[in-house]
Amino acid sequence: MRIDILSVVPKLMESFFAHSILKRGQEAGHVEVVLHDIRDYSLSKQKQVDDYAFGGGAGMVMAIEPIARCIRHLQSERSYDEIIYMTPDGERFNQGIANQLSLGGNLMFLCGHYKGVDQRVRDLFITKEISIGDYVLSGGELAAAVCADAIIRLIPGVLNDETSALTDSFQDNLLAPPVYTRPAEFEGVRVPDILLSGHEAKINEWRFEESVRRTRERRPDLYEASGL
Ligand code: 6GU
Repeated sequence: MRIDILSVVPKLMESFFAHSILKRGQEAGHVEVVLHDIRDYSLSKQKQVDDYAFGGGAGMVMAIEPIARCIRHLQSERSYDEIIYMTPDGERFNQGIANQLSLGGNLMFLCGHYKGVDQRVRDLFITKEISIGDYVLSGGELAAAVCADAIIRLIPGVLNDETSALTDSFQDNLLAPPVYTRPAEFEGVRVPDILLSGHEAKINEWRFEESVRRTRERRPDLYEASGL
């Protein structure tokens, strides 16, 4: 998979993709993340990328020309499964969308800034609009990083233990069960006996029941959706 991310502040995301699972995914050849500075595609002398809103009002709008030049340049080199605009008025991101996007070959993310992009960018180029929740961020960069992380870790081979993505919270609309490691007792607080029993079937049953209990208590909306 290849992920291209378009931004006016690409440096914000550099270190994020240079570490941990995302770094390993790239080094192992499962995914290539390429950051692009929209400013590099501006034709104005001052490398301007935004302008005043027609009709007035506070805040600048990201202009269409540099973005169009950048997108078209990338499209001339490969075709994209989705061209995604990160915006608070997009569809709310969730595990299902991450699963679906992890199957695609090439994804492009456009990060909004200021008052957002000229509507014609959305009308002409964008195939999907995503928000990561009901709050406003200063830009789409963190949101794009969140989505890319959720997608990349689902690509086969990226995680060490290939089964571990399957037991994540949300993968089956259930929250993950509690986990423990050594010591078996800390200041008088013991790990549940069942986990030390070595009885795999009983342990799986316990984990499932804890998942269901947690989901019912913390996320009644998910519990309803799980059909249990
Ligand atoms: Cl995708 N962008 C911005 N600027 N704010 C957000 C968001 C995206 N998702 C939630 N808040």
